[in-house]
Amino acid sequence: MKRFYYSLLLLALISVLIYLGGRFYFYLTDGFSLYNIKSTSSNNSAWDVPPLSAEDQKIVEKALDQNYYYLGKGCQTYAFVSADGEYVIKFFKHKHLRIDWWWKFIPLPSSFEDFRKQKIKLKRAKLYTLFESAKLAYENLPEETGVIYLHLNKGKTPHSDVIIFDKMGFEHQVNLDKLEFILQKRAYPVYPTIDELVKKSDIPAIQKVFRSLIEVLVLRSQKGIADRDPAMIQNLGLIDDRALIIDIGQFDVDDTIKDPKVYSEDIRKRSWPFIKWLTKNHPELVPYLQQALADTLPQ
Ligand SMILES: Nc1ncnc2c1ncn2[C@@H]1O[C@H](COP(=O)(O)OP(=O)(O)O)[C@@H](O)[C@H]1O
Ligand SMILES: [Mg+2]
Repeated sequence: MKRFYYSLLLLALISVLIYLGGRFYFYLTDGFSLYNIKSTSSNNSAWDVPPLSAEDQKIVEKALDQNYYYLGKGCQTYAFVSADGEYVIKFFKHKHLRIDWWWKFIPLPSSFEDFRKQKIKLKRAKLYTLFESAKLAYENLPEETGVIYLHLNKGKTPHSDVIIFDKMGFEHQVNLDKLEFILQKRAYPVYPTIDELVKKSDIPAIQKVFRSLIEVLVLRSQKGIADRDPAMIQNLGLIDDRALIIDIGQFDVDDTIKDPKVYSEDIRKRSWPFIKWLTKNHPELVPYLQQALADTLPQ
């Protein structure tokens, strides 16, 4: 009996160690692997984008002709920054979107058939809304999002082979022709930039930043594109004092958002956590943000 309990204890200990090892590995890698950014989906004409102009082709070729280094992750993508610090390449987390073969073929009791169908349908819908959103950004909001190239169907890209370095610094050669990805201008996080500007007491730059953060949301709304992600600052970035919407994963066509009353309310709501952060960290700046909101949004 004693031996039985010892075996049970040993088993529990091994399970805990395996679990902790897994968590630690995830901490080191953020779960990134080449497998996780590969899709199993076939090309779809819905994801075709217009060919690049000769001038843009050169810009994209140049942007991709360098190494990329791990920058961060979100719920939908892994982001890598270019060696020159100017661009970000984002690969989709296909581990959440992929319909693995076993989802389709593994034998299940008939009572689970509905579950299987539902699961496959859900994954397809997730991929569809994500790609639709990326396409909206590239085609309708290139200035607002800084997206300069989008590759959602496998096929020739302006520069096929790129070396990326993962979070642990390991090198991977990737063939971009075989992957889906977003190429975007690199922007800097908003809060640290404000902290820096405060240190320099650069109030005019802060005022410009505040206006730009609100204006970029107004521009998106006026084009009839809503963002289902309610966050504001986490999804925005700055290039000098110009704001970009960096997270392009949850856009939706929505004509109602064009209405100034509707987008004013939406933007004011989104601004709340920003006002809270300012109140806590730089209370003297709150009136500047209130002023920017009043100047930029219709009353
Ligand atoms: N254009 C960019 N410039 C700088 N950093 C970026 C850019 N795009 C993404 N990032 C970084 O990568 C993270 C994940 O990107 P994001 O677009 O938010 O992906 P997700 O849709 O998966 O949330 C961001 O939180 C940010 O740190
Ligand atoms: Mg995000």
